[in-house]
Amino acid sequence: MTDLRRALSEAVGAAFASADLPAELGRVTASDRPDLADFQCNGALAAAKSARRDPREIGAQVVAQLRENPVFKSVELAGLGFINLRVANGVLSERVREISADERAGGQPAETARRVMIDYGGPNVAKPMHVGHLRSSIIGESLKRIFRFRGDNVLGDAHFGDWGFQMGLLIIAASDENPHWRAVAEELWRTPDGPKPQEEDRFIALLLEGLDLDTLDRLYPSAAAKAKQDEEFRDRARKATAELQAGKPGYLRLWRHFVAVSRKALQREFEALGIEFDLWKGESDADPLIPEMIETLKAKALLVQDQGAQIVRVAREDDKRELPPLLVVSSEGSAMYGTTDLATILDRRRTFDPQLCLYVVDQRQGDHFEQVFRAAYLAGYATDGSLEHLGFGTMNGPDGKPFKTREGGVLKLHDLIESAREKARQRLHEAGLGVELSEVAFEDTAHKVAMAAIKFADLQNFRGASYIFDLDRFTSFEGKTGPYLLYQAVRIKSLLRKAASEGAQPGLAVVEEPAERELALVLDGFDQAVSDAYAKRAPNFIAEHAYRLAQTFSKFYAACPVMGADTPAQRASRLAMAQTALRQLELSLGLLGLEAPERM
Ligand code: ARG
Repeated sequence: MTDLRRALSEAVGAAFASADLPAELGRVTASDRPDLADFQCNGALAAAKSARRDPREIGAQVVAQLRENPVFKSVELAGLGFINLRVANGVLSERVREISADERAGGQPAETARRVMIDYGGPNVAKPMHVGHLRSSIIGESLKRIFRFRGDNVLGDAHFGDWGFQMGLLIIAASDENPHWRAVAEELWRTPDGPKPQEEDRFIALLLEGLDLDTLDRLYPSAAAKAKQDEEFRDRARKATAELQAGKPGYLRLWRHFVAVSRKALQREFEALGIEFDLWKGESDADPLIPEMIETLKAKALLVQDQGAQIVRVAREDDKRELPPLLVVSSEGSAMYGTTDLATILDRRRTFDPQLCLYVVDQRQGDHFEQVFRAAYLAGYATDGSLEHLGFGTMNGPDGKPFKTREGGVLKLHDLIESAREKARQRLHEAGLGVELSEVAFEDTAHKVAMAAIKFADLQNFRGASYIFDLDRFTSFEGKTGPYLLYQAVRIKSLLRKAASEGAQPGLAVVEEPAERELALVLDGFDQAVSDAYAKRAPNFIAEHAYRLAQTFSKFYAACPVMGADTPAQRASRLAMAQTALRQLELSLGLLGLEAPERM
């Protein structure tokens, strides 16, 4: 099953071929002028250039051929030699039936399936998530769904930040804060009168009581700030990082506790966002591979000593600006952010052997990934070009600078979600739903609306672009917003419910009216949207499609009475179109990570 664009390209290509011109010239695209045509072909202009002929003459020849073809309702030659095409109603009807019978609603799988790894989310131990993690999570989740929909074998990995300098910082900060925690870190319980080995775990659990998420939330920022000013403190934290990585038992004990506490809280947040990782691996999981990796780098003469540290030079002659080397082992002997990233590539190759790995991470980490990727290619850990950094822009405040809270701090993800929920509740109350829905249904709907608002506002932009955070606009039920899309889906659901309650069923789609034709054409465009989103790793193509579909449905619904149709057959046809539109809309929403409620 192919979309109309492809089917028509073949027909127009054949007409070019019969005029002794290359069939590729018959490539058809959606018309720039929907008021004049459904599709257009600019091939006559291109042909004229290379054959030094008059484009209108070539165009006329092709048009004459095409007019014979019953697929077209009209074929016109316009301007300098554009071919404007309108498709016959019967062809559109057929296409709608095809889409409605297809469980993928017309979105085709890719030709060959690949193994794809998506590295996204990237939360860190003890650091609250901020909007950077939100963007990564939203975009990464959507890409994961799009790639899966296209038929790839996809794994999404959270790549938990659990092995860097912040761990050493936390160990020192906790030890300084409380003698019990220090006792764990320094193994002070192992005194002659300490607990017996079988009581050890319980005893340590007692010592760690109170070292909860709030405490970590408080300890980490102040420790990070202190490390910036206090050299001695920083050195202790660096040393602790190296000792942790070398396996000091007390530090590992404390570290495991930090990881467990953080992970539990983070998973709750991801769950609220509707984000599911297939793998929740951490930087630390790559640690066991580091010695072997270092041997390989040495054997390939890639590892260079540099002021006590060990680095890999990744700069290339034709670089426009100098790319610093990748730091593999610090002078304290610890693994760095890039070290675990490189070892993770090796780990992934061993366990999954991805043909493509996408890193959905803030644009500002571009150099880091360039360094890591080049090192990986040099080490032979990945095929050239199989690692891609998909950067994204920032979410800005009204001043156009990265969004800050009123106090000037970074907005915590948790607070952002809460304020979106509050705003969504307010919107639902304004719409009069507060009284109609049970409390549970109301809360569930508010949550879906809030998520749709945040996610759609993010995904409707090309990921590289930055955008301004405006909760008022994002949560509006009108305009290009997530809640608007949910609202349209809900409207169709309620139409179908009403029809069912009156015994009216969807039947054979017959496209006749202009608004029906328009809806059919948009439904046909889904495949293109999915394949663009896939090829460009850009969910905004799906967002755009979902919005067009919702708008076009709305126009159709206004122009073509469904329950008040002229005949039962017409009603059944329109119900079929509504049902197909709903399925495709919900599929599109699903690819974006949005979910429509039953009512709103
Ligand atoms: N934890 C990192 C951060 O918060 C993001 C991790 C991105 N993924 C990666 N493989 N480095 O900035």
